[in-house]
Amino acid sequence: MKICLTLLLAVLSLTVSAQKFENLAKTPPMGWNSWNKFACNVSEDLLKNMADAISSSGMRAAGYEYIVIDDCWHGKRDSLGFIHPNPEHFPSGMKAVADYIHSKGLKFGIYSCAGNKTCAGHPGSRGHEYQDAITYASWGVDYLKYDWCNTDGLTTIGAYTTMRDALYSAGRPVVFSLCEWGNSKPWEWGKNVGHLWRTTGDIYNVFDGEVNHGTWSSWGVMKILDMQKGLEKYAGPGHWNDPDMLEVGNGMPVNEDRAHFSMWCMLAAPLIAGNDLATMSKETHDILTNMDVIALDQDTLGIQGFQFTTLEDSIQVYAKPLSGGEVAIAFLNRSKKSQAISFYWQATVIENEGTGTKLALKEKLYSIRDLWTKKNLGTTAKALKAEVPSHDVLLVRLTGK
Ligand code: GLA
Repeated sequence: MKICLTLLLAVLSLTVSAQKFENLAKTPPMGWNSWNKFACNVSEDLLKNMADAISSSGMRAAGYEYIVIDDCWHGKRDSLGFIHPNPEHFPSGMKAVADYIHSKGLKFGIYSCAGNKTCAGHPGSRGHEYQDAITYASWGVDYLKYDWCNTDGLTTIGAYTTMRDALYSAGRPVVFSLCEWGNSKPWEWGKNVGHLWRTTGDIYNVFDGEVNHGTWSSWGVMKILDMQKGLEKYAGPGHWNDPDMLEVGNGMPVNEDRAHFSMWCMLAAPLIAGNDLATMSKETHDILTNMDVIALDQDTLGIQGFQFTTLEDSIQVYAKPLSGGEVAIAFLNRSKKSQAISFYWQATVIENEGTGTKLALKEKLYSIRDLWTKKNLGTTAKALKAEVPSHDVLLVRLTGK
């Protein structure tokens, strides 16, 4: 009898022990976040407008489902320590905003920080983790981005695990997005803690560049791309490297936006749009909703693409193995001039240790589809001859014949 009881308790404690929510983010999360475009200018009207726009623009149909409010939604903690939204900007309260978002068939995401204060100086969750998790669950939060400012004396694994456990015990399934900028190599420990983890500092809307802010830098798209090298072995269904949110539609020319979006899809990156969805141009819309390109990102194998060779003059060639033995290939022209390329499929072996890829293309005949022009480019029997414009990509999908 005593043994039975002990066993029962052991089983019970196993079943209630905290963990991350499984069966979420089996493919990279897709949605919209307020930070890249709106920074601290956030309000319930903005969130409702974006929920309307994501639905009416066809973005929801293309797979974007999370509406995430970033920093600066906060008001004060009350005398019992419960957090409230800024009453001026969120007069109806967060539950009403979440209800509106849910009523459109979307999911609601929120932002907090492991430190005493958020990066913009609002109340952080330190010492309030369980209380905040309960509050978020009561509002109907489905996604939490958890930042890393003002965290003196905390360890990343400890702080993120505390919030993971708090979310789990609050009982409402939440996608947990770790945002400590890659400082403590979250790819090595994040899989059991969250569903995605930032690998770098913040992105900004330039193709290639760095802005040094003193203690930290913002990075252009190519700089961030380069920092993903070698991380491909850590990504997979339910646990993704996050090279930061999209800057598509935030000021880069259309070719650079196309290259940025293509490469994020090759990386199996979370696709979190960061532009104004209500006023976006047709070009921006067409990039963000290209279903053939999104399909690479959302492929169920969940393999992160990698560079496997370089052609002359800064044309990098990336591969992403897909389910069903298909393969995506991106030719990325990083140079300032348009370039003619010749690519010999029959002589190509795609190798990558991290993902365990070794693929000699001559072993199978593939047909080639250009995912931006939607044209068929023949088969891999013959060399590919093409022109790749500056700061642009040729993105193709190989399908076995
Ligand atoms: C950090 C994050 C950004 C954004 C801001 C908000 O810089 O990395 O993505 O959330 O904080 O203050």
